Amino acid sequence: ISGSPTTEKMSRLKILIANPTVPQIAYKLLADKYEVTTSTSHDRAAILKDVRGVDALFWATHNRIDKEILDAAGPQLKVIGTMSVGYNHIDLEEVKARGIKLSNTPNVLNGAVADIAMLLALAAARRYPEGRQHIERGTWVKEFDTQWMLGQDIAGSTIGIVGLGRIGQTIAKRLQGFDAHKILYTGHKEKPQAKDLGYEFVNLDELARRSDFIFLSAPLTNETMNMCNEAFFAKMKKNGILINISRGQLVDQDALIAALKAGRIFAAGLDVMIPEPLNTDSELLKLPNVVLTPHIGSATGNTRNAMAKLTAENILAGLAGEELISPVPL
Ligand code: DGY
Repeated sequence: ISGSPTTEKMSRLKILIANPTVPQIAYKLLADKYEVTTSTSHDRAAILKDVRGVDALFWATHNRIDKEILDAAGPQLKVIGTMSVGYNHIDLEEVKARGIKLSNTPNVLNGAVADIAMLLALAAARRYPEGRQHIERGTWVKEFDTQWMLGQDIAGSTIGIVGLGRIGQTIAKRLQGFDAHKILYTGHKEKPQAKDLGYEFVNLDELARRSDFIFLSAPLTNETMNMCNEAFFAKMKKNGILINISRGQLVDQDALIAALKAGRIFAAGLDVMIPEPLNTDSELLKLPNVVLTPHIGSATGNTRNAMAKLTAENILAGLAGEELISPVPL
C-alpha cells in the first residue's frame, strides 16, 4: 500500500540489473518492490557508472566482480545475485570482507547443460563436423564403404565424470539412458548416493586411463585449473573423447590441440574454451575432430527464465534480511 512505512523504506532501496538482455521476469519481480535500473550495456565502463549507490546487484556477465566494481558500488551494497552457476568471475574474498550476501543459480540449468554435454558427446563420437564437411565438399563416398566414417559407441562404454555435482549427476543419468557400461567419477570425496547407483569413485589418473568418454563438470578453482594437461592426455585412451561444459581453463588448450592433432585421443567436444569468444583463427576451428558450441550450455528460453527468476528471488530474500535460496558459501 502506497505510503505505508515499509513500502517507503523498501522503495528507497536500489537494484542494478547489470545486463540489458536479462529476461523480463527478473525486472518484474524486483521492480514490484524496489527501484530497479537496467544497465544500457554489458560494458564494464557503463556498469561502473550505473552501479554507484545500489543496494543490490543482479549480475549476468562474465565481467569480473572485483574491488573496483565493489568500491564503485559503495558500502551500502548488501546482496549480489549472479545469474550463473559458476562464480569464478567473482572475488569471493572481497565480497566476504564487505559482508555482502552472494547467490548463484544451481539446479535450474542442470538439464540444459547436460543436454549440451550429450550433443557434444554424440557429435564428437560420430564425427559430425567431418561428416558435414564431406557433404559440403562432395567427398561423400559413392559406394558403401563399411569402414568409412566409423565412430564410437556410447553403449557399452566407460564414462569418466570429473566433478559429480548436480550437472555431473544429470549427465550420468542421461548416459545411463544411452546404455553406458560403467560410470567412474572423481572429485573431493566419494558420494554415498553415487555408490548406491553403482558409480565408481577413482582418482584422476585412473579416470583418464579407463574412460572412453570424459566429461568435465567441475567448477574452475585453483585445483581444477589446467587439470587436463599433456600428462593427462598421455594417459587417455586412443579412442578417448573429452567433453568440457565447465570452464575452458580446466584444460591446457595447447596440450589438447597437440593431442588431437597427433591422434593421441579421438575427439573433443567443447562448450567452453579460451578465450571466449574464440579467436576466429584458432586451431580448434581447423581440426576435424573437434565439436564446438559457443558457451550455450544454459541457453534455452525456459532455463534462462528460471535462472533470472532464481537470481531475482535471491535478491529479494537478501534485501528482506532472509536466508538466500541458493547462497554461494563464503
Ligand atoms: C554458468 O551458469 O556458469 C554458465 O556457464 C554461464 O556463465
